[in-house]
Amino acid sequence: MELGPSRIAQSRAHVPGETLTRNTPVPVDRETAAALAEIIFPPDVRPQPPIFDEAIEIAVQSIIEEWNNLSILEENGMQPSRSCLIYGPPGTGKTRLAMWMASQLDIPVILVRIDGLISSFLGTTARNIGNLFAFANKYRCVLLLDEFDAVAKLRDDPQEVGEIKRVVNALLQNLDSRRDVGITIGITNHPKLLDPAVWRRFEVQLEIPRPKFDVRVQIARNFIAPFKVSESHLKLIAWFTEGATGAEIESIVRTYKRSLISKADEPIKLLETLRRFATLNSARLDPSRRELLFSDAAQLFRIMHQDEQLCLSYEEIGSIAGKDKSTISRTVGKKAE
Ligand SMILES: Nc1ncnc2c1ncn2[C@@H]1O[C@H](COP(=O)(O)OP(=O)(O)OP(=O)(O)O)[C@@H](O)[C@H]1O
Ligand SMILES: [Mg+2]
Repeated sequence: MELGPSRIAQSRAHVPGETLTRNTPVPVDRETAAALAEIIFPPDVRPQPPIFDEAIEIAVQSIIEEWNNLSILEENGMQPSRSCLIYGPPGTGKTRLAMWMASQLDIPVILVRIDGLISSFLGTTARNIGNLFAFANKYRCVLLLDEFDAVAKLRDDPQEVGEIKRVVNALLQNLDSRRDVGITIGITNHPKLLDPAVWRRFEVQLEIPRPKFDVRVQIARNFIAPFKVSESHLKLIAWFTEGATGAEIESIVRTYKRSLISKADEPIKLLETLRRFATLNSARLDPSRRELLFSDAAQLFRIMHQDEQLCLSYEEIGSIAGKDKSTISRTVGKKAE
């Protein structure tokens, strides 16, 4: 299932505040003069929806609908959940999801990389956080706090004990200050590093896991466009990427597409691409599947034919291996005897 545009996209989120324009000055770090945030206006990005399994897509859709109906909920005495923490392994589509959710509300995004708020000057980080939230609270926007765990990394430095306390307190107070004014999305790879009090400030907590087989097939299909390859090719990519993330599948598919451009439609290129990826990314693939890519053809074809998820026909295997169906059948049969 692919997330579609929100069914009620026409009823925009009624978030209070002044309107951000391209001339609105963005707060800067006083020491370095670096901007503390990037403003992204809806017409500038048309993010594509990420692909997740159905349960996540339904949950995401319901959050968007709630946000699009903020005022109706409030009129009826209900408190919408205005803050969402998205967490999960790197490369699973969290930033893409957040940008897409924000785009569905049709209001600008104030994108903050927490790294950029952290200053080497004592006390400045907390002040940056304060300035940034004051800015976000003033305008109609989605506040997107990406790589939220950066704050937690300060903890590794024993000299920073005082500073981290100040920073976490500043974050807590400022997250509270947004409770009634805006929509906030936080993103982290390391939910365990987050201070539990920070964690609790987010009303919705959405875990994005590594994609399952069916979702990997869809992700592969999404990135292969505008090329069209048979379903068996997509299934094979998904099967060998057990445990991989959307970003890794995207990378394999890009390599595969490049190989298709040089000499169209040459079948064995898929296996070549997978082998190359397995060699260059040895830690990323499931070791037993990886080994299979380099084992003898009979063994590989037999698994392709017999595996529950793949169950490819001899003809399909032939189309992947560049051989005819009877050769595949003979190869598989020979070893099995
Ligand atoms: N489920 C998915 N559907 C579609 N594309 C995906 C998916 N997961 C990852 N991608 C692609 O992988 C790349 C990385 O995605 P993204 O930056 O959103 O990941 P992330 O979870 O924010 O990673 P990090 O934690 O490292 O910041 C993007 O190009 C994105 O399109
Ligand atoms: Mg990200």
